[in-house]
Amino acid sequence: MNASLSTVSYIAATILFILSLGGLSNPETARRGNLFGMIGMALAVVATVFGPRVTPAGYAWIIGALVVGGAVGLIAAKKVQMTQMPELVALMHSLVGLAACLVGFASYIDTSTVFPTPAEKSIHEMEIYIGILIGAVTFSGSIVAFLKLSGKVGGKPLLLPGRHWLNLAGLLIVIWFGRVFLQAGTHEAGMLPLIIMTVIALLFGVHMVMAIGGADMPVVVSMLNSYSGWAAAATGFMLSNDLLIVVGALVGSSGAILSYIMCRAMNRNFLSVIAGGFGTGGGTVTKGDASQPEGEVSPISAAETAELLREARSVIIVPGYGMAVAQAQHTVFEITRLLRDKGVNVRFGIHPVAGRMPGHMNVLLAEAKVPYDIVMEMDEINEDFPKTDVVMVIGANDIVNPAAQEDPGSPIAGMPVLEVWKAKTSIVMKRSMASGYAGVDNPLFYKDNNRMLFGDAKKMLDEVLGALKS
Ligand code: TAP
Repeated sequence: MNASLSTVSYIAATILFILSLGGLSNPETARRGNLFGMIGMALAVVATVFGPRVTPAGYAWIIGALVVGGAVGLIAAKKVQMTQMPELVALMHSLVGLAACLVGFASYIDTSTVFPTPAEKSIHEMEIYIGILIGAVTFSGSIVAFLKLSGKVGGKPLLLPGRHWLNLAGLLIVIWFGRVFLQAGTHEAGMLPLIIMTVIALLFGVHMVMAIGGADMPVVVSMLNSYSGWAAAATGFMLSNDLLIVVGALVGSSGAILSYIMCRAMNRNFLSVIAGGFGTGGGTVTKGDASQPEGEVSPISAAETAELLREARSVIIVPGYGMAVAQAQHTVFEITRLLRDKGVNVRFGIHPVAGRMPGHMNVLLAEAKVPYDIVMEMDEINEDFPKTDVVMVIGANDIVNPAAQEDPGSPIAGMPVLEVWKAKTSIVMKRSMASGYAGVDNPLFYKDNNRMLFGDAKKMLDEVLGALKS
C-alpha cells in the first residue's frame, strides 16, 4: 500500500471513529456506532500493517502478535460476564498505558532515526518523556482500579499522611528529571532519569487510585479511560502516526467529558478529581457506619408485591448492580410488558452511576428489549416519585440511599440519588441487609413506606411474574 492510500484509509478510519462516538451517545444508535468503530479499527489495522512504514521482514512478528493478541481478546470477550466488564475495561486501559511505556523506551533505545536539527531531537525526547509518564500512570492506576473493581483490593480509600505533598513532591521530581533527561548528551546518560521518572509515575498511579473511596470509583474508571486516550495519543507522537494521535485525542477528550458528567452526577469537584485522591471529605476517612439507621424493616412476599403492582396505576422500576448480577433484566421486561398491557404506567429510573460502568443499566435493558422511551434518566424522573404508587428497586442500594441528602457526615453526602422513598410504596429487592459498593448503611430500608423483598432478584421476579399471571 502506498503512502497516499494509507493516508486516505487513515482519514476514513478517523471519520468512522467520530461517527462511532456520535452513535454511542444514544441507545438507539449505539449498535450502529459500534459497527462504525469496528470497521474503522479494521481499516486502521490493515492500513498500518500494509502501510509504507512496515517492511516485509516485520510481517512475521506482526502476524504472530495479531494471532496472540486476537486470541486473548476473543477468549476474554467470550468468557467475561457482563458484571465483570468494568474490570476488563480497566485491564485494557492498563495495556494502553503499558504499550505507551514500551513504545517510549523502544523509541529512545532506537538510534536509527536521524534528526536534522537538535530542536527536533529534543521535541522527540520530550514526546518520549511525556508519553512514558502518562503511560506509566495509566498502567499502574488501571491495574489498581482493576483490583478494586474485582474486589481483590478493598474499596476503602488509602490515605497516606501528607498525600497531596507527596504528589507535589513527585511532580517536582518528575519535572527536575525531565530537565536532566533532555540535557543528557547520550542515551546511556538519559536512561537513568527516564527510569526514575517511570518508577515515580507508576507509584503515583497506584497512590492516586488507592486514595479513592468506593462510591467515587466511577469517576476513576472514566478518568483512566481518558488517560488511556492521552497515552495512545502520546504513542502516536512517538511513532509519528497521525491516526493514533487523532484517535488518542478522541478517546482522551471523550473520556474527560465523561469524567465531567460523572463528577456532576456524583456532585464531585472536577479539578480535585484531576488532582487525584478526591471524595474523602478533605483528607479524613469518613466512616460508613457513623450514623446507623435504626428501626425495623418490613418484609414483603412476591405474591404481595404482585398484588401491589396489580393495583398500581404508576410504577417506577429502579435497577442497580444486583439486577446485573442476577441477570434479571429479561424477567423485568416480562413484568413491564404485562403491567403495561393492563394499562399501568411503567417507567424506569436510571441513575448515572448505577451498576459498575457508565451506561450499565441501559445496556442490560436494551438487551432485554425494554423500549427506550420508558427509560428515564435520574433528572427526568426524580420529580415524579411523589406521584408514583409503587417503586421497585431491583438490586440497587447506594443510588437510592436517602443518607446522601439527610446525613452530611455520610461518605456519599451530596451525591444526587433517586428519591424513591417519596413514592407511596417502595419495594427493595435484594438478598440481605448488606450494604452496596460504597459500604454505607441505607436508611431507606427502615422507612415506613418501604418493604423488603429478600432473595435473588431473578428468583423473586420470576415469582412476582408467576403471581401476576395467575
Ligand atoms: P450497589 O450500591 O453496589 O448495590 C447493589 C446491591 O445489589 C447490593 O446491596 C446487593 O445486596 C444487591 N445484590 C447483589 N446481588 C444480587 C442479586 N443476585 N439479587 C438481588 N440483589 C443483589 O449498586 P447500585 O445501587 O447500582 O450503585 C452503584 C454503586 O457502584 C455506586 O456506589 C457507584 O458509585 C459504584 N460504582 C459505579 C460505577 C459505574 S461507572 N456505574 C463504577 C464503579 C463503582 P445483597 O448483597 O443484600 O443482595
